[in-house]
Amino acid sequence: MKIEAVILAAGLGTRMESELPKVLHLLGGRPLIAWTVAACQEATGRKPYVVVGPDAEEIRHALSVEAHFIEQVERLGTGHALLQAADQLRDKSNLVLVVNADLPLLRPESLRCLIEQQESNPGPITLLSATSDQSRGFGRVERDRNGVVVGIVEQAHATPEQLALRELNVGAYCYQADWLWDHLPKLPLSPKGEYYLTDLVEMAVTEGGQVSVSSVEDLDEIIGINTREHLAEAEVALRRRINRSWMLAGVSMLDPESTYIGPEVQLGPDTILLPNTHIEGRTIVGVDCRLGPNTIVRESTIGNHCLVEVSVVEGATLEDEVKVGPFAHLRQGAYLGRGVHIGNFGEVKDSKLGPGVKMGHFSYIGDATIGEGANIGAGTITCNFDGERKHKTEIGPGAFIGSDTMLVAPVRVGRDARTGAGAVVNRDVPDGSVAVGVPARVIRKVKQND
Ligand code: UD1
Ligand code: CA
Repeated sequence: MKIEAVILAAGLGTRMESELPKVLHLLGGRPLIAWTVAACQEATGRKPYVVVGPDAEEIRHALSVEAHFIEQVERLGTGHALLQAADQLRDKSNLVLVVNADLPLLRPESLRCLIEQQESNPGPITLLSATSDQSRGFGRVERDRNGVVVGIVEQAHATPEQLALRELNVGAYCYQADWLWDHLPKLPLSPKGEYYLTDLVEMAVTEGGQVSVSSVEDLDEIIGINTREHLAEAEVALRRRINRSWMLAGVSMLDPESTYIGPEVQLGPDTILLPNTHIEGRTIVGVDCRLGPNTIVRESTIGNHCLVEVSVVEGATLEDEVKVGPFAHLRQGAYLGRGVHIGNFGEVKDSKLGPGVKMGHFSYIGDATIGEGANIGAGTITCNFDGERKHKTEIGPGAFIGSDTMLVAPVRVGRDARTGAGAVVNRDVPDGSVAVGVPARVIRKVKQND
C-alpha cells in the first residue's frame, strides 16, 4: 500500500515562551522536528511533508533536504493544518500517516505498528494511544461500555469524569487516504475556534466506521513537548534510552544520570565513562578508554586505551594510548599520535604531535608539527599569530624544548635539538644543537643521531 507522512509543525508553541519556533528547540543536540522527520522517514521509507507557518524560514532551512514543505498561513488548528496538504496529497497514496511535530521520542517501530494496524482495519482511522497517569495536557480517548472507541476529548473541554480517563491520544494517526481527504473539509469548528483533527474520530464513528487503536507501552515515547519542563523530561528520557543501549553494548558508566551521549556518538566496549561527561556530535571512541569526570568531547575521534580526565576535546583526533588532562583543551585540528601525553593546562590547535610526545604542563601549541618523542617543557608557547597571520612551527623528533620557551613562528627546531629555559626562539635551531637566551642563539652542537 502506498503511504505518505505529514508532520504538523505550524503551531506557535506559545507555551515554550520563546523567540525560537518550538520545533527547533534542541533535544539531544538535534532540533525536535528532526527527530520526527527521521522517525517518519524510517517508518514509511519516504520523505515526509511538513506543515509549517509562513514565518518558518528557519525550519525550512534546518530541514531543506529531509522534507517537503506545505504552508499553513492562518493557524486554525491541527485539522486545518492537515487540510493544507489535501491538494498536494490527494490521490498520491492509499494511506496517510499524520504525526504531531512535538513527539520527538516516538520510535519508528511504534509508527510501523500504527501503519500495520490500519492496513488491516476495515475502517478509516487508527490512532496511537498510551495509558498513563501523567497526561501532560493530552486529549483523552473515550470508549463506550463495550470498549469501542467513540471519540477524543481535548483536556480543555473535558468534564471531570473525562479528565479521569487514563487512555491518552498520543498525536499520531494513520488514515485511509480517500476517506481523510473527503472528510477533512467537513470538520466542525471547535468551541475554541479551531478545527480539531481529533474530531475526525467522532465523524468516523457516527458513520459506522471502525476506529482502531495501536498502543505504545514505553511511556518515554509519548513525552510531548508543550513546555520547557516537558523538554527537560524528554532529555532525561532520551539520555536513559541512549545510555541503556550503550551499557548493553559493553560501555560502563559510573553514573548514567550524569553521562551525556549524543545520538550520533559511537563508543567501543570496555570504555568507562565517569560522571558529568558530555560526548557530542559525530564523536567516535575506541575500546577500553576512560573518559571523565567533568569532560566534554565534541566531534572528535579517540582511539583505543585512551585516558581523558577533566578536559575539553573538540575536533581532535587521538590515536591509541593517549593520555590527556586534567585541565587540557584540545581544539580543532589537534592530532595526537600514539602514546602522546598532554598534562594540565595544555592547549593544542591545528597541530600534529608525533607518537610519544610529552607535554606535561602549561603549554600552547598551535599550527605546529612535532616529531616523535619530543619533550615540550612546562610553559612552552608557540607564538603562532603576528596579529595578522598564523605561522607554522616545526619541532623535530627527539627535540627537548626547555621550560618557558617562546617559539616565534615561523620557526623550526631541528631533530634532537634543545632549547634552554626561557629561550625566545625566533630563528631556526639546527638538528642536534642547543639554543639559549633572548633572542636565542646556538651555543653548541650536541651529538648527532645519524
Ligand atoms: C494535540 C491533540 C491532542 C493530543 C496531543 C498530543 C488536537 C486538537 N489535539 O493537542 O488530542 O493528545 O496533540 O500530541 O489535535 N499545529 C499546526 N497548526 C495549528 C495548530 C497546531 O501545525 O494550527 C501543530 C503544532 O505545531 C503541533 C501539533 O500540530 O506540532 C499539535 O498541536 P498542539 O497545539 O501541540 O496540540 P496539543 O494541544 O498538544
Ligand atoms: Ca502538543
